[in-house]
Amino acid sequence: MKRMLSAIKPTGQLTLGNYIGALKNFVSYQDDYEMICFIANLHCITVYQKPEELKKNLKDAVALYLAAGLEPDKTTIFLQTDVLEHAQLGYIMACNTYLGELNRMTQFKDKQAKGETGLTAGLYTYPCLMAADILLYDADYVPVGEDQKQHVELTRDVAIRFNHKYGDDSFVVPEPLVTKVGKRIMSLDDPSRKMSKSEHNDKGCIYLLDDPKLAAKKIKSAVTDSLGKINYDPINQPGITNLIEIESALTGEDIDSIVARNKDKGYGEFKTEVAEVVEKTLSDIQARYKEIIDSGKIDEILEEGAMKARKIASKKLKKIERKVGIEIKKRK
Ligand code: TYM
Repeated sequence: MKRMLSAIKPTGQLTLGNYIGALKNFVSYQDDYEMICFIANLHCITVYQKPEELKKNLKDAVALYLAAGLEPDKTTIFLQTDVLEHAQLGYIMACNTYLGELNRMTQFKDKQAKGETGLTAGLYTYPCLMAADILLYDADYVPVGEDQKQHVELTRDVAIRFNHKYGDDSFVVPEPLVTKVGKRIMSLDDPSRKMSKSEHNDKGCIYLLDDPKLAAKKIKSAVTDSLGKINYDPINQPGITNLIEIESALTGEDIDSIVARNKDKGYGEFKTEVAEVVEKTLSDIQARYKEIIDSGKIDEILEEGAMKARKIASKKLKKIERKVGIEIKKRK
């Protein structure tokens, strides 16, 4: 069975973008792949987080993984810091990544270009840690939204170079897996920008734990255009296109079929249809989220997941340490 690995960094509450671009897909893959999904808590602190808020967001993220349908007996679920090998291989990866490669990462470049101050070394080198996250487990595929594809491509480059230097059996070279529909859900109040946890204006972003009625309201007040026609046209009608993608991703109905069914409707009527789909999705997830939080089982699930992950990760790290020449004890 091929292995698949992914993660989410809960620097805030998980969003509908995280769900459509990532989480929902993890759930659909878990029957056909050996699935590893962790919570990237080390990545969270590349930007300052209030400790108490972060703690809550981490726990909520685990509960939302489960509420979305990840099953611990099919998917290995754990917290990144419970497997120390991530940080250690991250350092080795940093020693095998060039500054020029990190300088080309658009996420960091964008923050720099916006003139954001206080950017940390951790944020700059975070693609090295992400490479370690993936390579530690010899993942064949990495399902991600479009914005993370560049980091998986860097991981491939680093793995290929490492294999060339130290031997082809070092790392499996992973492939990013980006779905056609929903790979980049846009902000509802500015469809030229990605919907994101760090959005300054809450109107543009739906959080999975938003009151479902409020989420429906956000869809109904989404920015569209003045063309007045339901079309899938990312360039000229990005707002309407975004709503079509959201509906298609959540219901599984084809984009063409949604467009054909709605072609004579006004924007208000179409928005009401999408709002109902989003409201129902959130209500279902939140009902399960509540059960999971009340069950008190999260710690146990994370401990079991970490145990499984450590078994793979420790073996791999030892192998890589021997390859680079920093381990001198006999192989156990
Ligand atoms: P993060 O937490 O920013 O995002 C988690 C996943 O959600 C996807 N995503 C979206 N997809 C569609 N539309 C959107 N608006 C949207 N917003 C976010 C992201 O593409 C991603 O798949 N560095 C990673 C976490 C990470 C990771 C890894 C991922 C750490 N180690 C190893 C894969 C493998 C991150 O910050 O994702």
